[in-house]
Amino acid sequence: MALVSSTQEIPEVRSVPRHVAMIMDGNGRWAKKRFLPRVAGHKKGVDALRAMVQACKARNIEYLTVFAFSSENWRRPADEVSFLMGLFYSVLETEIERLHGNEVRLKLIGDLSRFDPRLVELIKRGEEVTAGNDKLTLTVAANYGGRWDIMQALNALCQAHPEKAGNYSELDLAPFLSMAYAPEPDLFIRSGGEQRISNFLLWQLAYTEFYFTDTLWPEFNAALLDAAIDSYCHRERRFGRTSEQLNAAEKSQNAESLISQNA
Ligand code: IPE
Ligand code: IPE
Ligand code: MG
Repeated sequence: MALVSSTQEIPEVRSVPRHVAMIMDGNGRWAKKRFLPRVAGHKKGVDALRAMVQACKARNIEYLTVFAFSSENWRRPADEVSFLMGLFYSVLETEIERLHGNEVRLKLIGDLSRFDPRLVELIKRGEEVTAGNDKLTLTVAANYGGRWDIMQALNALCQAHPEKAGNYSELDLAPFLSMAYAPEPDLFIRSGGEQRISNFLLWQLAYTEFYFTDTLWPEFNAALLDAAIDSYCHRERRFGRTSEQLNAAEKSQNAESLISQNA
């Protein structure tokens, strides 16, 4: 199916979101509540993510995109950052085969230049091994920032088409954004009680439906995903239009399908 820009065309709306983006927040607080070190929350968070991949697949969601490490998370204490890097490496080592067995395609978005070369190599291997899978695309955003993404796309566009400088359109920039392979997210979920984007997918969330839950990430599960999808199903996605326009379009579609059924 062609990828549609929500600001240039009206995208198709389905009852099950095609693309779900998640900020997996609240690991540290989950651990603190249990008098555990923060990093215990990160470990537990991996289990929640593994379950979420299965849950999304079972619900025929085509794209799951998760925020694992932001471009601002380097500001954390050095020992937490180095634990997270080690965890990332060991999780990739054990999960690549499992993802592949489950027909999941793995993609990484973010500025990989700051990572250890061994980690980058493992990431590349994970992407290569799973490249042919089409059940679910799991995108992990690591050292990712929405502003970084827009700037790297702009720089790439300037290099590719210097002659058009000053006249670039949204559609010129789109192919250079790091998620150019995926439709825009339909549903955004943030666990952990905060109601902010924290520099996640700024461009791509233009018309995404937002859902916030106080549940801390290690406790997020399939039932909570269903609650978010249920909320999503009851939204009216207008993309700038009025309710009346939407209702009229639905009526004419129903009439058309009745005519084609009777033909
Ligand atoms: C999210 O959980 C995981 C990462 C940012 C890596 P946090 O570590 O932000 O947990 P809280 O928000 O401090 O509870
Ligand atoms: C956002 O969570 C990034 C990830 C979940 C990876 P943070 O916990 O870093 O966000 P802020 O600092 O509370 O906005
Ligand atoms: Mg947090």
